[in-house]
Amino acid sequence: MKIIRTVAEMQAHADQKRMEGRTLALVPTMGSLHEGHLSLVRRAKAEADHVTVSIFVNPTQFGPNEDFKAYPRNFQRDCELLEEVGGVSTIFAPDEATLYPEGSDQQRVWVTCPEMSRQLCGKYRPGHFEGVLTVVMKLLAACKPHNVIFGLKDIQQYILLKQMVQDLALDIKVIGGETVREPNGLAYSSRNEYLTADERSQASIISKAINSATQMIEDGEENPIAVTGLMREMIHSVPQAKLQYAEIVTASKLEPVEQFIPGVQVIVAVAVYFRHIRLIDNAFALVPV
Ligand code: PAF
Repeated sequence: MKIIRTVAEMQAHADQKRMEGRTLALVPTMGSLHEGHLSLVRRAKAEADHVTVSIFVNPTQFGPNEDFKAYPRNFQRDCELLEEVGGVSTIFAPDEATLYPEGSDQQRVWVTCPEMSRQLCGKYRPGHFEGVLTVVMKLLAACKPHNVIFGLKDIQQYILLKQMVQDLALDIKVIGGETVREPNGLAYSSRNEYLTADERSQASIISKAINSATQMIEDGEENPIAVTGLMREMIHSVPQAKLQYAEIVTASKLEPVEQFIPGVQVIVAVAVYFRHIRLIDNAFALVPV
């Protein structure tokens, strides 16, 4: 596994592989890798000859009161996990000055986001998705992949990045990797590390609420408010859980669903705090005909 720190070296490496006729896949991460990331790596291996994992905790996607400084960083352990899973050729691990030479607060050109970035998480994290889309453009420019793989747990991020790649005519296939869950149903997240054992067990309420909501929709419930009501009730039943949102949105534009339309796919999405730890989860549901 080659560790590359600069954009110029990463680009030269990608050019070389492309000249050799290899297909390249990129798995962008902020490190602190877990089973969810490893499943994206496995997916990348199935899609391409040469897999790069980028590890960069991106300052521009954290708000001033968020956990940028405290975000878990475990580079050595990440490298060991990637060695173990095998098939990763390159780790791209730039430092902040490499991706933001003028400083992350002096970035001049940004990718602007469409309206749907202001739904769900975007409502509570202003500027977050501009930071994500901008850093992913930098990572794509550095790593020059044919395929890029993102986790579907961050469904709004995935949809926005897919839209960015399409609207900016980037010649890259965007692939969504299924959410991987701990045995109790909690979706893997680097932030799960902050949870106590008790919170980790209580946090299983998130996927239970999502599953119940999905089931209710697929069983023919006609009123979206009844479904969000059930999710709220379930999450409020756990005293440590502080609900930020429980919503049903359209899968196309992430707009709140006021009425179910038969045959249309919707997304059920939840964000919950355990102390300062923010966890999200979601699922697709198909409204029956
Ligand atoms: O999903 C993440 O880990 C990050 O948002 C990403 C896509 C690596 C951009 O920093």
